Amino acid sequence: MRKKVSDENDVRAATAPFQAEFPYERDEEAQITRREFCNFLGLTSAGLFVGAAGFAAKATLDARKAESVPAAQIEGAEVLAPNSSLNFAYPTEKDSAILVRGADGTYHAYGQKCTHLSCPVYYSRSDQRLECPCHEGAFDAGTGAVLYGPPPRALDRIELETRDGQVWAIGRSPSDQNKES
Ligand code: FES
Repeated sequence: MRKKVSDENDVRAATAPFQAEFPYERDEEAQITRREFCNFLGLTSAGLFVGAAGFAAKATLDARKAESVPAAQIEGAEVLAPNSSLNFAYPTEKDSAILVRGADGTYHAYGQKCTHLSCPVYYSRSDQRLECPCHEGAFDAGTGAVLYGPPPRALDRIELETRDGQVWAIGRSPSDQNKES
């Protein structure tokens, strides 16, 4: 004899007595589920929005900080020979920086920390580029861009200005240039 397969009607018939004592509406149950799902979506969206707003606010604050760095004269820059460099500190005494005077006499300055693992970079006069001795990375002396090696991005750039023949550092901006760009 073939075994009877139960279907939805069988289940409804079997549960009818219980439905009478503990009634519930299937449509309402589905609505509650939908409502809960919508609440979940709403809360998740709100959470993501608050997180994104927090990041945006922090980025704005950081940008304001970069703008508020005070200007400082770089001692000895005006007598620096072309194709050479000197070290200085900017914007605080703890922030080592390097000023490069190119062979054409133009000045460029960068944070001295390599963007790979923070070793101090130095200016190679023979190759006219900034080199990192730790893992053989190198940067363009005129732009700070990565030439080769493991550094993931360009050096932080220090903005310069000439005032009455003296060279001043007037701001520092973190590099957002990617190695691949
Ligand atoms: S720390 Fe400069 S290349 Fe690694």
